[in-house]
This record gives sequence, C-alpha cells and structure tokens, in this order.
Amino acid sequence: MKSIGVFTSGGDAPGMNACIRSVVRTALYLGIDVYGIKYGYNGMINGDIYKMKSYSVSNIVQRGGTILKSARSKEFMTKEGRQKALDQLNKRGIEGLVAVGGDGTFTGANIFFEEHGIPVVGAPGTIDNDLYGSDNTIGFDTAVNTALDAIDKIRDTANSHDRVFFIEVMGRHSGYIAIHSGIGGGAELVMVPETSTTIKDVIDTLKGGRDNQKTSSIVVVAEGGEQGSAMEVAAKVANELPDLDIRVSTLGHLQRGGSPTSYDRILASRLGMAAVEGLVNGKSNVMAGVVDKKVTYTSFKLAISKSKPIGEDLMRMVEVLSI
Ligand code: F6P
Repeated sequence: MKSIGVFTSGGDAPGMNACIRSVVRTALYLGIDVYGIKYGYNGMINGDIYKMKSYSVSNIVQRGGTILKSARSKEFMTKEGRQKALDQLNKRGIEGLVAVGGDGTFTGANIFFEEHGIPVVGAPGTIDNDLYGSDNTIGFDTAVNTALDAIDKIRDTANSHDRVFFIEVMGRHSGYIAIHSGIGGGAELVMVPETSTTIKDVIDTLKGGRDNQKTSSIVVVAEGGEQGSAMEVAAKVANELPDLDIRVSTLGHLQRGGSPTSYDRILASRLGMAAVEGLVNGKSNVMAGVVDKKVTYTSFKLAISKSKPIGEDLMRMVEVLSI
C-alpha cells in the first residue's frame, strides 16, 4: 500500500487529533503517503483532500476537536455519493482509509467496502463509548472527566441551597458517561437508557435520602432515557413532590470539547498506529480497539451491532453507595 487517506466523521471527540497525528506519523514512518480528508465523507465526495506531512500534525496532540473537521454526510448514504467519493480517491491513488468515528462512520465504511472493496480500518472515536470491540472509545474518558468537573461544581451549590439537581449528560442511546460520572460524582441516582427507571423509583430514592438526613441530591440523567430529558424528569418529580427545591442543568456539547486526558491521548495514539499497521497487514472492514489492554480488531458489523453493556455491578454500586 503506497497511499492512504484519513478522516474523522460523526460527532467529534477529544483525542481525535492525537489519533490523526498517530495515523499520519505511523504511515510516514512506514514510507506511505497520507492524505487528510476534510469534513468526513462529505470531503471525500467533494474532493476536500490534501497531502499531509509530518509537520501537518505538529502541536495537535493536546488539542480537542479535529483538525480535519467532521460532518454527518447524507450524500454518502446514496449510491451516487459513494461513487463520487470513490472517484476522488482513485484520482489521487488512495488505496486504503483510516476512519475515525462512531457507529454511523463505520456503517458507511462497511457499505463502501462491500460496494467498492476499498480497505478501511476504523479507530473508535466517540464520547459515547458505545462500540463493541474496544473497552473505551477515544474521547470517553475526557468527556466523563468534564462531566465530573461540572457535577462537582453543581454539588457545591446544591449543598448550599438544599436543592435537588437533575443533571443531563450526553450519550445517545448509551449510559456510559452517565454511569461513570454519576459514580465518580456521588450521584443519588443515575438514569440510563439501558435500564428502566420509573418516576416512582426517582421519588423513592429522593425520599430515602431525606429520611437519611440528606439535604441535597444529584440525579444524573442520560439523554435518550425512557423518562425523557432531565427537564422532563424534573417536571414529573416536581409534580409529585412540590416541596422540593429542584433545578436542572444540561451539560450538552461542553462534554465534546477540551484537551484530551492522558488516557485518551495514549489510547488515540495506540489506535491510530494500530489502524495503519492493520491496513498495511491486509486488514479491512475492521475496527481497531483495545480490549483488556491488548490491541484487537473487530469487524465493523460486530462493532456496530453488538451491545457493550454498561455493567450491572456499576448500576448496583450507585444504589449501594447512595444510601
Ligand atoms: O455521538 C456523540 C454525541 O455527542 C451524542 O452523545 C449526542 O447525542 C450527539 O452526539 C449530539 O449530536 P450533535 O452534535 O449533532 O448535536
């Protein structure tokens, strides 16, 4: 393989830059040309592609976001869009791709490979940590620490005013950020999409806390849960317990930015290197991951479709530690 392309796609995640750096430097080290493809699949379709040098990735290992920009491409979902993308790659002699992103990115890569046989190796980059085949995804650790920092600060004011706070964290269909930041932040309750929590459960927990002389409480709500947003959950609870002083805080996109933690920088560097080495060794249609501290490769199909449970033990831990 003489020439590869690298792109980031879907929601950005802290550590994507460290991954791009690793892909570019590993490829150059192996004597392979690298092209940066901007705006994910949209840039592939539109030919927003440039040759990268070692210096192209200088001073980015510590930066959040992605220097290659990102997008969710509607056009790539069409056969015509994918044909245009293929033409752009062929024009430049790009023989393989490293895709950094989440389930949408790998769904696209899988179709592209099946249709046109272009080898693609993925590196999991999403704060949601919802991909099977890697214990952690790039950006998850940073997002949890960002959420935790916010929860700690909210706890100060909740405590001063004897309030109940409902804090909404990101994670479309995934409770990973919620459960990790909830345990780390000492939440009374964590509501995740993976398990059912009724409004009665919330009320019982809050009442139990009061009975145990707690004066303030934190409930972490993952977006996409069955009871709705933190705002909706808070409204339902306020209806039943009008004497509580309730506030809501939605952390939103601040969880997607910021300088990556050391964990994410190292993970991203490992996975970028593993993706290039995988491509060179003939792997395709797989996602590089780290499972039990070892680099592994999992088919895109499995990475996207198989669930990675958040762990019953963690859910139980919230219950035990919040009495
Ligand atoms: O997939 C990452 C993620 O941050 C989810 O947690 C969230 O639901 C979604 O992206 C938000 O997407 P957007 O940036 O398009 O609003």
